[in-house]
Amino acid sequence: MSDENLNPLRKKLENLVTEYQQKNDFTGWFEDIYTDALGNPEQVPWAKMQPHPCLENWVKIANITKKKALVIGCGLGDDSEILAQYKANVTAFDIAPSSIEWCQKRFNNSSVNYLVADLLNLDNSWKNSFEIIFESRTIQALPITIRKEVIEAIATSLKPGGTLLIVTRLRDTEDTIDGPPWPVSEAELSQFSEYGYQEINRIPYIDTNNPSVKQALIEYQRN
Ligand SMILES: C[S@@+](CC[C@H](N)C(=O)[O-])C[C@H]1O[C@@H](n2cnc3c(N)ncnc32)[C@H](O)[C@@H]1O
Repeated sequence: MSDENLNPLRKKLENLVTEYQQKNDFTGWFEDIYTDALGNPEQVPWAKMQPHPCLENWVKIANITKKKALVIGCGLGDDSEILAQYKANVTAFDIAPSSIEWCQKRFNNSSVNYLVADLLNLDNSWKNSFEIIFESRTIQALPITIRKEVIEAIATSLKPGGTLLIVTRLRDTEDTIDGPPWPVSEAELSQFSEYGYQEINRIPYIDTNNPSVKQALIEYQRN
């Protein structure tokens, strides 16, 4: 897309990503997006202010009462809150301190334990410890060059027997592409099998604002 056709928020995001990447920093720009938004979710490009519809459908049929759940890159908290409403014991983290402050303000009576943490530097005590992990659009928000580390960090946090849910854009080739987002390929997803994961369900998701983009909720079980 030519520069003048980009909406201002998208253009700002791309400029920020480039600026941080030049410093070899793949995540610093998220905090800038949240702080610059000054509490206005319309200034956060991914904020929907409601749980992902695929997660909403999933919680209605899964029994998650008292299960220990982790939400990765929780953003403004809607997905974490629906897991808590269905009675899971939820920890939710994000690398951007302002997103966590926003969640704590927005859901000030919540049972969710909101924390600032970096997926690529998680506490060792979290290894193999969660029964449910939910991640939406965080893998795709990080460059393909660090995908192996990102998938490893997610994969090793789930307890054997647990369930991992991923919401992501998918790409059909193994070619490297420009982003963000950087949709996930089948070869990248196959890395989960190295950690004992089996795909048990894949539900395609069509975003009406972006119907041509291939997206899905993928459910894995860890053996
Ligand atoms: C595209 S947003 C998606 C937010 C939310 N999951 C959703 O679907 O609305 C990606 C989120 O991941 C967070 N994030 C990116 N890298 C992270 C990391 N290394 N550790 C923790 N959170 C990270 C960002 O701050 C941002 O909130």
